[in-house]
Amino acid sequence: MGHPQALQIAIDGPAGAGKSTVARKLADHLGYLYIDTGAMYRASTWLALKNDIPLTDGDAIAALASKSNIQLKPADESSDGKIRVFVDGQEITREIRTQRMSELTAGIAALGQVRAVLVEKQRELAREGFCVIDGRDIGTVVMPDAGLKVFLTASPEERARRRQKELAAQGETPDFEALLKAINERDYLDCNRAVSPLMRAVDAVELITDNMTIDDVVLELEKLAKEAFQPAPAPAQPRAHERESASALTDFQDLPEFQELPEAQEV
Ligand code: CDP
Repeated sequence: MGHPQALQIAIDGPAGAGKSTVARKLADHLGYLYIDTGAMYRASTWLALKNDIPLTDGDAIAALASKSNIQLKPADESSDGKIRVFVDGQEITREIRTQRMSELTAGIAALGQVRAVLVEKQRELAREGFCVIDGRDIGTVVMPDAGLKVFLTASPEERARRRQKELAAQGETPDFEALLKAINERDYLDCNRAVSPLMRAVDAVELITDNMTIDDVVLELEKLAKEAFQPAPAPAQPRAHERESASALTDFQDLPEFQELPEAQEV
């Protein structure tokens, strides 16, 4: 197949933009693998806390993340639509989604040593083929050759409202103003860290989702994916020396629409 980068869809954006819900649904619809890189940073925070490692010790956290088996498994009814996360066989799906973990993880994600280890694991997973991968630095650092790059965003107020709903569904009752402040602080940390700050890739399509439902966004992304992976139209009458490349384009059109999701992704 001549366009390997076309198999990857990179979705970046700030906290609470809806990336993970949208990315998971898009991956389901297309039959692609979904890689939630934020879950990997959250799992590294969990590992540091569990092993009493100071949250500023990048070398120790990176070494631990490197030797640990972080597994991402498809969402099911037990996980409220979030992908399931395991570290060395122990399920941590719920523990890593609290507001406290979100705040601590923004600090862990600023450590260059941790990023180096996790980016390598993310590329390894993505090498498996068709995938939707979401995070902060996917289009800029992890998969600069992705066939489609999207930058998903919304106003801080809208993102705080969404986050409040999400936390309420998990039984937390945070105050709206406190959440808005936390969103602004996380934006600041994500955008101003020295290593791989959150930034829109120059060739990413930006979608501002304030007035869009999740399904609207997924539909829009499916449209973009179709356009991005459309082969260039073959010339009406290929000349003899062009016939071979015209048939290569036909191969590309035969991309499987659905692909079995692996049981689990081990990294
Ligand atoms: O869903 P939400 O945006 O709240 O968080 P997440 O995507 O699970 O990511 C958790 C934290 O990990 C973020 O605050 C980012 O600081 C960091 N992160 C990152 O730096 N790079 C990525 N590729 C993914 C997440």
